[in-house]
Amino acid sequence: MSGTGSRRFPRLLVTGGAGFIGSCFVRDTLARRDGTTIVVLDKLTYAGNRANLAAVEADPEQAARFRFVTGDISDPAVVAPLVADVDAVANFAAESHVDRSILDPEAFLRTDVLGVHVLLEACRAEQERAARGERAAAPRFLQVSTDEVYGSVESGESHEEDRLEPRSPYSAAKAAGELLAHSYFVTFGLDTVVTRGSNTYGPYHHPEKLIPLFITNAIDDQQLPLYGDGMQQRDWLYVADHAGAIGHVLEHGDSGEAYNVSGGNERTNRQVVAELLNMLDKPWSLVRLVADRPGHDRRYAMDGSRLASLGWTNKVSFDDGLATTVGWYRENEAWWRALKAGDWDAYYRRQYGDRLAGSHEAGR
Ligand code: NAD
Ligand code: TYD
Repeated sequence: MSGTGSRRFPRLLVTGGAGFIGSCFVRDTLARRDGTTIVVLDKLTYAGNRANLAAVEADPEQAARFRFVTGDISDPAVVAPLVADVDAVANFAAESHVDRSILDPEAFLRTDVLGVHVLLEACRAEQERAARGERAAAPRFLQVSTDEVYGSVESGESHEEDRLEPRSPYSAAKAAGELLAHSYFVTFGLDTVVTRGSNTYGPYHHPEKLIPLFITNAIDDQQLPLYGDGMQQRDWLYVADHAGAIGHVLEHGDSGEAYNVSGGNERTNRQVVAELLNMLDKPWSLVRLVADRPGHDRRYAMDGSRLASLGWTNKVSFDDGLATTVGWYRENEAWWRALKAGDWDAYYRRQYGDRLAGSHEAGR
């Protein structure tokens, strides 16, 4: 098995820890009850939600090891003192939705590129303090990246050394962020690792993304807007497996390396929607074919053997994960209805208004 061996990082800064995957990482790490302390730094954008961390705050033992700071990763004054007090930084913070990156790319550059730069500079300052003997070791920096940096993969699987060919403003910004992190490894000797996760699904997923949008729309008998021909393929990864893999790379990954986190569950969007409707006992006639996403990547698929060689395996099958997810959305209507209020209508009209007006039956 390759890797640095097991290293523990007892004090963590988790940026973006109020989002979908970050909050799962925080909940699962604190639930291990191994003494790890976590500071979450989160800007609480439309996608950030303190309710995702309610279970932690309600548990006195976990709450005692947890602190929440509202703030922006691109603000050096906020970031520097937090990084000074931790052994590792796991950066989940990002603008994360491809469709929003097409509507408004700038926010993606600010957080997914400049924000990463600010975090890296803070780590570099701590590395200098370590060199002066003012702290034990420089913090490890883990950048949570995505399979989308490889671009559309018509056949075969992406390997970590493949060329990055991002094709959306989101994936271009994510590629820039992880390349910047790698440059700090090469240039300054900072201890960095990168994970490239595939399409993730599960509880607490914002209802703008395919699976939660279609579950919640279907519960309300609303139309399901499927882009293009619906034959795009994604490789689905359950959120607890994604968060667990990130923790595994944090503790075992080699400095300077990137690790694919694949799901092993390749499905066309049509297949996913059919499974969802089946579980919800809703008719296929809800599905509408709508104008495609511009530049829509046809397929993502990654080889996961490098991470497997570190001793990681996913635990949740797609059928089980999807059933758990559907059950969670059924039981937690208050959570998602709060997110489908306020600014949601304006977003939905902008993204789907014309599309649904010009939509077609999806024919099975
Ligand atoms: P999310 O949108 O649910 O959460 C992002 C979190 O970051 C939110 O809590 C938000 O408030 C916070 N945030 C945004 N800008 C910030 C800023 N400037 N400063 C501080 N906090 C800020 O995203 P997610 O789905 O949980 O994704 C987490 C990470 O995983 C992202 O880096 C994303 O690119 C990556 N990723 C996601 C997937 C997926 O399928 N969801 C797959 C692979 C990789
Ligand atoms: P999404 O959840 O946005 O993730 P990503 O774009 O990061 O893969 O979309 C997953 C797939 O579902 C992608 O092929 C786009 C498609 N999709 C639709 O067909 N309709 C929708 O309304 C959404 C949000 C996505």
